[in-house]
Amino acid sequence: MVIVVSCDLLIVGGEGDLALRKLYPALYSLWINDCLPADINVLAIARRPLSQDEFLELVRSWFDHSRSAAQFDVDDWAAFTARIEYCPQDATSSEGLARLRQDQLSDPERDLVVYLATPPQIFAPICGALEAAGLVRDNTRIVVEKPLGEDRASFLAINNQLTSIFGEDQVYRIDHYLGKETVQNLLALRFANTFLEPLWNNKYIDNVQITVSEAIGVSGRWDFYDEAGAMRDMVQNHLLQLLCLAAMEPPAHLNPTAVRNEKLKVLTCLRPMDEHMVRENTVIGQYAAGAVNGEPVPGYCAEEGAKAGSDTETFVALKTYVDNWRWAGVPFYLRTGKRLSHQYSEIVVEFKQISHSIFGTRLPAGTPNRLIIRLQPDETISLELMNKVAGLDANTPLRKVTLDLSFPDDEVLGMKPDAYQRLLFDVISDNPTLFVRADEVEEAWTWVDCIQSVWRATGKQPESYTAGSWGPSRAIALVARDGRNWHEYP
Ligand code: BG6
Repeated sequence: MVIVVSCDLLIVGGEGDLALRKLYPALYSLWINDCLPADINVLAIARRPLSQDEFLELVRSWFDHSRSAAQFDVDDWAAFTARIEYCPQDATSSEGLARLRQDQLSDPERDLVVYLATPPQIFAPICGALEAAGLVRDNTRIVVEKPLGEDRASFLAINNQLTSIFGEDQVYRIDHYLGKETVQNLLALRFANTFLEPLWNNKYIDNVQITVSEAIGVSGRWDFYDEAGAMRDMVQNHLLQLLCLAAMEPPAHLNPTAVRNEKLKVLTCLRPMDEHMVRENTVIGQYAAGAVNGEPVPGYCAEEGAKAGSDTETFVALKTYVDNWRWAGVPFYLRTGKRLSHQYSEIVVEFKQISHSIFGTRLPAGTPNRLIIRLQPDETISLELMNKVAGLDANTPLRKVTLDLSFPDDEVLGMKPDAYQRLLFDVISDNPTLFVRADEVEEAWTWVDCIQSVWRATGKQPESYTAGSWGPSRAIALVARDGRNWHEYP
């Protein structure tokens, strides 16, 4: 798919972790698939005084470890890197920005995407400098990454800084989970088929489980993580966005406003938790030393760069409700954590048991139909059904079968884009459907703040769990006391 728009890309924080790990590999994949404007100029700005060659070596060394590496081709790489220029400048100063090659960025006929791969503390000076350098035009778009604040108030402060210079329609807030193929396929599954919609409600669905389980630890960013914890790092954004897509009403159109309006309505229907509910329905944990995939790993407070005695949670499990007509009484169980036994993410929709069984004990309890939308490591959608065992047995024995509703083979569809490819492509094409609107972020914070304030006021401490386990035992009890089980990774 070729992009017809003329567009340039300015990456601020252009030699940082995010840019090297995610952005350049994604841009390369887009480039070789003809999904970038052929005349795009990519300017990477950062303070580190690197020469162009040193910078490209750095980009290449990270690229070699990325999933795009399999697509490497010498000529393509040369053509791609010819479009990138490293600019060792201070992006918070208009003089720094004025030293960029203005012929590349100042053409009002060309769209300009500015990607802030930087901490939010410097969004304001960067935006001010962009404005002073004349780079804020109607066709400038600005991309920002989480964390967008640590609560509703700090989010609003950051957002006010952005929107005092850019219009809301120019601000692209990334939640990379929305860029994952299977997440978008959930929309197709729900809204491009007839069979699910009549069942997608509290009459037929017993519960919904959303799990983002990570076997990795804090990956060398202990200080950052310690400020955030699992609630702010994962639940406030990724898990709530997944919940929105699973629970939202069918939008009237597949356009940014319609989709985001429906997601916002879900967030406004999340049941606020009082102190009693927080105590009953939330579990937090912190990993202690253990073993993951057979390798010994340290506890959270013994990780590289850690400070002893931190009470930051590395695990959250909670039960919540979406209080509207469709979902009344259906629990949504959410859990996420680091250093768990497996690296996987999924949404599991568990249907109610049939109302009357003609098969007696051959249809054992605990075999509800389940729709499993797995985001990673494999991207699959499957439906668990009961089926007859073939043969002449008059007892009609039953067994569970799994119907695979996944994408056809990669060979058939071509390569599945990774989340950053999708999102970079969309921002360059000026399509904000998969980006998060300010009111969604604000509403998510409002709900999260309410829980965090109870944790703070009651001095709630994380329970210890062994690295490589399924998290604190209370998380299992959270679901078990309702007579249910977490869907375990097979
Ligand atoms: C990031 C979090 O947003 O998402 C990380 O800050 C987390 O802590 C990561 O590891 C998970 O993303 P993915 O795509 O690897 O599941």
